Formats: sequence, structure tokens, C-alpha cells
Amino acid sequence: MHHFHYSGSALHCESVDLAAVAGLYGSPTYVYSAATMEDNFRRLQRGLTGLDARLCYAMKANSSLAVLRHFSNLGAGFDLVSGGEIRRVLAAGGNVRASVFAGVGKTEAEIELALRNGIFSFHVESEPELARINHVAGKLGVKAPVAIRVNPDVDAHTHAKITTGKSDNKFGIPLRHAAAAYEAAARLPHLEIKGVQMHIGSQLTSVAPFVEAVTKVGPFAAELKTRYGITYFSIGGGMGIIYRDALASGASSWWESQPADQRPLTPESYGAALVPLLQTLGLTILLEHGRFMVGNAGVLLSRVEHLKRGAGKNFLIVDAAMNDLVRPAMYDSFHEIVPIHRDSTRPALVADVVGPVCESGDCFAKDRSMQEVREGELIGFLSAGAYGYTMASRYNTRGMAAEVLVKGSAFELIHARETFEQMIAGEKIPAFLG
Ligand code: LLP
Repeated sequence: MHHFHYSGSALHCESVDLAAVAGLYGSPTYVYSAATMEDNFRRLQRGLTGLDARLCYAMKANSSLAVLRHFSNLGAGFDLVSGGEIRRVLAAGGNVRASVFAGVGKTEAEIELALRNGIFSFHVESEPELARINHVAGKLGVKAPVAIRVNPDVDAHTHAKITTGKSDNKFGIPLRHAAAAYEAAARLPHLEIKGVQMHIGSQLTSVAPFVEAVTKVGPFAAELKTRYGITYFSIGGGMGIIYRDALASGASSWWESQPADQRPLTPESYGAALVPLLQTLGLTILLEHGRFMVGNAGVLLSRVEHLKRGAGKNFLIVDAAMNDLVRPAMYDSFHEIVPIHRDSTRPALVADVVGPVCESGDCFAKDRSMQEVREGELIGFLSAGAYGYTMASRYNTRGMAAEVLVKGSAFELIHARETFEQMIAGEKIPAFLG
């Protein structure tokens, strides 16, 4: 459920008319709903009633300072993956002490920054990394809290580029080698073994792979509790969201209209399946959801530049491009595209929706059927709150889009559109070029 809906003919985010936002801040612009994020947070929390469950929001999905502050106010910690993300949490006033540091290639400087700021735990991906963390902690005269990421070899049935729990992925230590890795960790004097972690992939639409992975790793976690006194089990993130039918899925009537056994993954069904498996462990359960928290809380607003009618093919050319939202080009992902001003008298249009970037991959949708929209009018790409802005680039010297946060009838620019001067600020022409 989310807070994007038509009020009359105008698409709103909460009580804010999206055309007014584009009028003030231009396009392309990401707009986020604070209420949707809060709802997602609370539903997840309720779904896991019975566990000591804590959210470490996977900030790679959306790391705008305002979004981090919002989750921090709700009580979340963060799943972070770089020194930059540690500094973002600090800049947003978030709690590094309730955050975990993941990733396969943490540098010494990043490890030191995390330790100096009291990171809750490192999620370690290899034995060489254990040695490196031990070394940095020794240098600082502290003990580093660690958990090892185990790879349960479970097929998440998701896109190949975002599946992570199979044995041929670069992530984690295979379950059968994990006991040896913990023994190695226990021998290192500057490490403190605190937990165990897994993450099997992203955009999972069924609970079965989660159940399979927890069933595999749960007994190992129990063993680690006895042996090393671990206090937590992080079961990662990965809960999928609705991309098709995204607008309709905002209403509870949509959910009720789905056959009960075919309802997409919800925090309620996720909790119902996992709580009984996890409850008996007596461990704190960390969750690292990113997409579920913010995906359906964001829209990318874009303006139509031209409708180019070709022989047998129409192209709707818009002012957003693959540099702003790369998911369709990178993962062939589907984002629902809707007019900001709905007009039922307009004819239907079937078109490829494309950006102005000079390559064919700059295509958001092929042969998409939608209401006809005309030059200068606005459209919205739905479910763009996760892995939208954070994966954007400056390709074709296009500055980063603006970001706006809505709360009720209030909205504010949370990230100004990048200017050309900002884009080239770090560049220099060497003297030897004359
Ligand atoms: N924990 C770990 C260790 C992860 O690697 C990830 C995501 C998460 C948590 C959060 O997963 P989520 O709950 O968001 O599914 N750019 C891709 C998604 C990449 C996910 C990478 N890891 C996309 O746009 O679909």
C-alpha cells in the first residue's frame, strides 16, 4: 500500500498535487512519500511481532539525508556498505551504533571509520577480511564486533544480477565452510564474535526461498549461540514490491481482490512464515530491507519532450533518461508509467518510452500502452523510490535530478538539482595541455 492516488484528474502524493511539485522544481524530479515509508516500517515491525526484530534499513536503496533522518526517527539503524554511507548516516544524525557494515571489499580506512564511530557489527564476507578487521582493530586497541555472512546456496528466483545466495555468487562463505571461518575468527585476538548473517537476493516475490534459507542457517545460528554466545542473526533484506499494477496496489481493495494464495509477498505473510522458525532461537533478529521500505514510496516525475510518430512505432521522448533511472536498461525492469493529469477522453497510445541519451538502451518501456500524453505534459514512473536516485549517474553530462519529500500537505526540496558548475567543480585541465 502507498500514498500515490488520483484526486479528480490529478495524481497526488499524499495531499500534494504532483503537477505543483514539477511546477516549482522542474523535472526530472524524484518525489517521495514520508507516510508510505512510515507505513512500510510499521507493517514490517507488526509482521514480526513475537521476535526481538530490528531494522537496519539497507540505505543503498535510497540514501538521501532526509530519508535517513526519517527512518532514524522511526528507530531504524542502517545496513551500510561504504565509508561514504557511514558518513551519510552521521550527517543525517543517524545511529552508527545500531548499524551494520556489509560488503566484500571494505578498505582499512573504512574499517577504521566504522570502529571509531562504534559500528554495531561488521558483516564479514571472507577470511582475509577477518584478518584485515583484526589488524585495524588491533591498531586502534579495540575489539571489532563481527558476524560472518554465510551463503546458504538457495535460489532466490530473481534477476541474475540481484541474486546473491547461490554458491557461485561472490558473497559470503559457504555454509559448509562457515564453522571453520568462525574458528579462525575466534583465534584472532581483536575480534568479538557477535552474530551470523545471510542475504539471498533482492526483489523476492515469494516467501519460500526465505524459509528455505532460514531453515538451513537457523540450526547453525543455534550452534554458534552455544559455542560463541552470539546475540543476533541477520536474515538480510530482499522483500520484493509490486511493479506491475503499482498504482492500483495502493488501495486495500486491490489486495483483497487478489486470490488469497497468490497475493504478492507482504510483511504479514513474510512474518507469518518466518516468526515461528526464528522465535525458538532466542536471538535478536536483524532485517536489512531496502527496496520494501522505500520502493513504492517514490515516483520519478518527467516531462514529455516529443511524441514522435514513426512507421509502425511511436516514441514518447521524455526528459528523464537512463542516467536518472537505470533499472529498466540494467535489469529490464518494469516501472508503471502514468499521466500526472488523467484524461479519460484522450485516446490510448502505444509507444516506446525513451529518454534523450544517445544509445538505444535508453528505453524505459517498449510498446507500452497508456493514455496519450502530449508535449510539455507530465508523466510519472512509479515504484522508483528504491535504487533510482542512488544508481543515477551524470552520463551525457546530465546533472543529478532533484529530490522532494512529501508529508501530508507539506513538501520540501531535499536535494537540489545538480548544476553544471557543480558537475565540473572537481575537474581540471593540466597545464601541459596548454
Ligand atoms: N543486505 C545486503 C547484504 C544486500 O546486498 C542488499 C542488497 C540488501 C540487504 C537490501 O536488499 P533489498 O531489501 O533492497 O532487496 N540495484 C538492484 C538491487 C541490488 C540489491 C543489492 N543488495 C535493483 O535495482 O533491483
